[in-house]
Amino acid sequence: MLPFDFHCPTRIVFGAGKIDELGPIAAALAAKRVLMVSDPGIVAAGHTQRGIDSLKRFGLAVTLFDRVDENPTTDHVEAGLAVARDFKPDHIVGLGGGSSMDCAKGINFLYSCGGRMQDYWGEGKATGHLLPMIAVPTTAGTGSETQSYALIADAQTNAKMACGDKRAAFRVAILDPALTVTQPQRVTALTGIDALAHAIETYVTKRRSAISLAFSREAWRHLAPNFRQVIDEPDNLTARAEMQLGACLAGLAIENSMLGAAHALANPLTAEYGIVHGEAIALMLPHVIRHNGRRVSGWYHELLNSNGEIGHVAKANQAPDALADFVAANSRRAGLASKLTECGVAREKLPELAAGAAKQWTGKFNPVELSELDFQQLYENAL
Ligand SMILES: [Fe+2]
Repeated sequence: MLPFDFHCPTRIVFGAGKIDELGPIAAALAAKRVLMVSDPGIVAAGHTQRGIDSLKRFGLAVTLFDRVDENPTTDHVEAGLAVARDFKPDHIVGLGGGSSMDCAKGINFLYSCGGRMQDYWGEGKATGHLLPMIAVPTTAGTGSETQSYALIADAQTNAKMACGDKRAAFRVAILDPALTVTQPQRVTALTGIDALAHAIETYVTKRRSAISLAFSREAWRHLAPNFRQVIDEPDNLTARAEMQLGACLAGLAIENSMLGAAHALANPLTAEYGIVHGEAIALMLPHVIRHNGRRVSGWYHELLNSNGEIGHVAKANQAPDALADFVAANSRRAGLASKLTECGVAREKLPELAAGAAKQWTGKFNPVELSELDFQQLYENAL
């Protein structure tokens, strides 16, 4: 039996149109002054205003910080902190993709506990209570809405810092799949492949437990058949809903089992080459599955065969290749790069990237121990 200690601090509200319940949900938490954290694309799509309108209908004072960017840095967090200090919120809402939700957590750490973002790098570094937060994800990807971690890049060094504390978990996550329909196709592809990677990586980590496996398996069941669907039919609300639910469940799996080597390999690609997270994951995950498959093919076999819509393989030793091929084929179909050279990565850079990957905390949970040379080999395989 795999031990676990499970507590879900996040109430999850799911359904098309649920964004209009933001006001009553915040009011029920006794919110009076809400800092809304969002990004310009989501503002332009009209979702942010809809959230603000719902809050105002319930008499809440709202101020908007909308200068969040893809891969948020310490600079974004500092800019949001300045707005928070002026406004003095009692609640924070992260409305947008993973960047907005992570930035909301980052602002909360600094506003509530002081110091710099770097002080919260790691686990359990908050020094006091954080403001209660509500997440309204508009992508189906990171699963940040059900995690207590914020990924913030150091604006000076580009290092991706995973800053986690149980107190940084959202009180409520409002999943409204209708909000995800407006995503550009590329965002759907990037976030969708990331969510799939979360289901796959969490299923085999060293911290896997009976609970995390249940979330990983269920996430996979929702995500695997619907990724292709949302690429082919972006307006298909049912497929969008499946993806959003799957991404959220995968977030719960991460919270309870952490991630693996594909995320360790992806972070230096983002830091050094600016390759966006989902694309970096798409490039590396098939190679990680094949590598891990020498030791944990049975687990990949279980996952693959748990979903009849994806197809069965008879023998466990065929599963890693079948699963890696599934990921690679879906990434290609969605228009994501399949080789590092397509993204300008040079062979002579690989030792440096491998040194960076070996330092990533998330790699420690990979089921197979990886040396710096192993990481380099994996990059070479993806070249
Ligand atoms: Fe990810």
